[in-house]
Parts: sequence; structure tokens; C-alpha cells
Amino acid sequence: MIKLTKAPKSGLHGEITVPGDKSISHRALMFGAIATGDTIVDNFLMSDDVMRTMTLFRELGVNISQVGPQIKVIGKGLAGFTKPKHALNMGNSGTSTRLLMGLLSKQPFDMPFFGDESLSNRPLGRVAKPLSLMNAKFDLTADEFLPGTIKENNRLQGMTYEMPVASAQVKSAILLAGIQAEGETVVIEKMPSRDHTERMLRQFGGTIVTDNGVITVQQQRQLHGQHVLVPSDISSAAFFMVAGLITPNSEITLKKVGVNPTRVGVIKLLERMGANIMQEPIPSDGEALADIIVKSQSLHGINITADDIPSAVDELPILALAATQAQGDTVISGAAELRVKETDRIATVISELTKIGADIEEKQDGMIIHGGTPLHVPQGSILLDSHGDHRIGMMNAVAALITEGDVILTGEDAMGVSYPGFLADLVLLMREKI
Ligand code: S3P
Repeated sequence: MIKLTKAPKSGLHGEITVPGDKSISHRALMFGAIATGDTIVDNFLMSDDVMRTMTLFRELGVNISQVGPQIKVIGKGLAGFTKPKHALNMGNSGTSTRLLMGLLSKQPFDMPFFGDESLSNRPLGRVAKPLSLMNAKFDLTADEFLPGTIKENNRLQGMTYEMPVASAQVKSAILLAGIQAEGETVVIEKMPSRDHTERMLRQFGGTIVTDNGVITVQQQRQLHGQHVLVPSDISSAAFFMVAGLITPNSEITLKKVGVNPTRVGVIKLLERMGANIMQEPIPSDGEALADIIVKSQSLHGINITADDIPSAVDELPILALAATQAQGDTVISGAAELRVKETDRIATVISELTKIGADIEEKQDGMIIHGGTPLHVPQGSILLDSHGDHRIGMMNAVAALITEGDVILTGEDAMGVSYPGFLADLVLLMREKI
């Protein structure tokens, strides 16, 4: 529990380097583990979710160590894992669970696995069904949920699969099985989802062809350890972008943010809302990087539709907060995926922001945010709860910056899933203690 005050009248100022990208950190461990030779990872994200993946690989016999600011993974090759002594604990991490269901779908032993309460309610059929078509075998609770078992299996068969939902986790699970399968595996995406798996497979020496939404992989003989530089996570930076835009008199610089084209939806949507967001590109051999500079400015409501969702899926809670401060209505549609994130994010965004005066209507696949509502605590103080969801916790903290009255954050520990130092960085920008 932590009490937050409003931002000072002088606004938020300063330079922040948000931690490494969560999606890329998970994948660096995964590719490092199945490669031969050493992988060195710079700017690795030390957060609860990614540490979960690290622990899982250690239980599978992979040597992973911290060398100064870097992580070193000594690869085991595609067939070098040892049977874990315990059931695999996936914690809160959907990315660990879904990607590892693909990666570990051809092992000579059963692996029971389980997760926390939130993860145990998230659908895994979207991964288990396509992987089963490749001959992977799972026992899941009600065919769909944790706890379950990734079953022993010695043969995977390639397939062609048209994605029913835009999901990088589903796509990645299939590709990670595909590189171990006989024949060709083809994934067809109607809307592009984040492509870090494809890029990293290529970086580790794998062969993959991507052509207009059609992604093709073959069985890979060997991948080779690499040096991976993890960019700062745009999904974490998004909280400060919005904080800078909606807190009067602010100017914030976010350093070395990953601006992979499949991830920059939040910038594009804020620009459509009238924001001027400066990007100063930084030369990079890997994923695209830029410094991002935001200043407070007025915004207007927009229509956010299904095509906009995949590249901004994790940023919709903080975009909803921005929309409460925009002039006019913002309509979010085609975003039913929000209902199966760490929480039902349509419900939790509305539950928390309406406590402080936001005017939001719920839709089955999104929300209608009537903008221009000053945020305030009706009387006394108010508790804004994360519901155990890191991105809801951070949205609440940013909302507190512009809320009149005493806001108390609860469940703030959840922020550690992707951004353990979030509140400390916020304090730096406020230049006063909270
Ligand atoms: C992720 C993909 C997205 C995203 C999640 C990370 C990944 O999930 O929401 O935070 O690293 O592949 P979906 O695949 O369910 O859209």
C-alpha cells in the first residue's frame, strides 16, 4: 500500500531509461538455451515474469549466470534438456507458459506445469490446439487451463496454420515447435503481431521466411549463441509517454526505447489523438531504437479499431487513461483480447478509473471513454487496486499524478512483473518524495 500525491505544479521532468523489453528478454533466454555455445544478453529485464523463465530453464539443466550487468546462457542445443525435478512453476507469466508449450513440445519426459490464480484462468487452448495438430500432447484442466502436463513426445510434424486471433504468443509457440518438426511449418497472420521471435531466430542463425503475413520455418539443425542487446521496453515507456502528455508543464525523455514497427502502435495512436511525440533514432545492429521526447499537450478522442489492437495491445489501459483527458469520445473496439490478459483489462480499467471520476462505458470488445473529465477523489481518500495486474497498477500510479485528493495504491507489488523500479522512476520525474 502506498500513498501518491499529485504531480507538482512544475510538472514531470527528466530522463528515464526504462528497463529492458519483456518479450525480447524472454526470447533471449529461450534461444540462448536451445542454441549451442554462449549467449550474452545486455540490458536484460530482471523482472518477476522473466526471472520465471530463467528459473524454468535452470530447472531444465541450463546454466545461466549474471556476469556484471550481463546475463550469460550456456546453450544446451535443441535436445539437451534434463528432466526437471519439480513441476514447472509459470507464476503469472503467459509468455513463459505459451512459448514454452511450443518449445518443450518434443521432450523425452513429461513436464507437469502450473501457475498462479490469474494464469490458471487464462486460455491455453489457443496454443494447445494448433500444437496438437503438430502431434504435441498436453493434459490441461478442462482442455484449456493450468495446472496441466506437457507430455513426453518424440515427433512433431509441420503444418500450415491460419491464426484465428492476432497473438505473438500463439505464433511464437508454433514457430518454436516448427523449428523441431519434420517438414515445413507455415503460420498465416491476418494482422501482424510482434515479430521478435522471427527476428531472433534469424539472429541465432536459423532460417525463416516472412512474406506478407506468411511465415515459414523448417526444422533447424543447430542455432548458435549470440550477443543480444535488449532495447528498453516500449510497453513500459508508454506509461511515461502518457504521464508526460497529461501532466501539465512536463517534459520527459525516454532513452533507447525499442521502436520495432510491430510495437509502436501506442505512438501512432497518441499521434492520432493530436500528440507530438519526438523520436530521435539511435543506430542499432538489432532491433530499432530511439530516444523519445514527450511534452504535455492537449489531446482529442479517436476511434481505435481491430486493426490498431495488435501493435498496442499492452498499452490500451494507459491509452484509456489518456483518453479520459482528451476532448471528446474515444471508442475502443475489436479489443476482446483485453478480457484474457493478466486481468480482464476492460473490467479493471473501468473499475479503477471510474472511482476517480472517469466516464467510461463498457462494450463487450472494448470501451467508450467520454473524455475531458477532471480526475478527483470524491471524498477522503480512495484505494486504486492493481487487481494483481502490473499494467493496471502502473496505470493507477499515472492516474494519481493528475488526481485531486489522496490516492492510495494497493497491490502495487504486481508492477514487478515487468517494471520493478517503476515507482522509483516516477519519483525521480516528480523530484519530490511521495
Ligand atoms: C507477448 C505477446 C502479447 C502481449 C504479451 C507479450 C509476447 O500477448 O500481450 O504481453 O511476448 O509474445 P498475446 O500473444 O496474447 O497478444
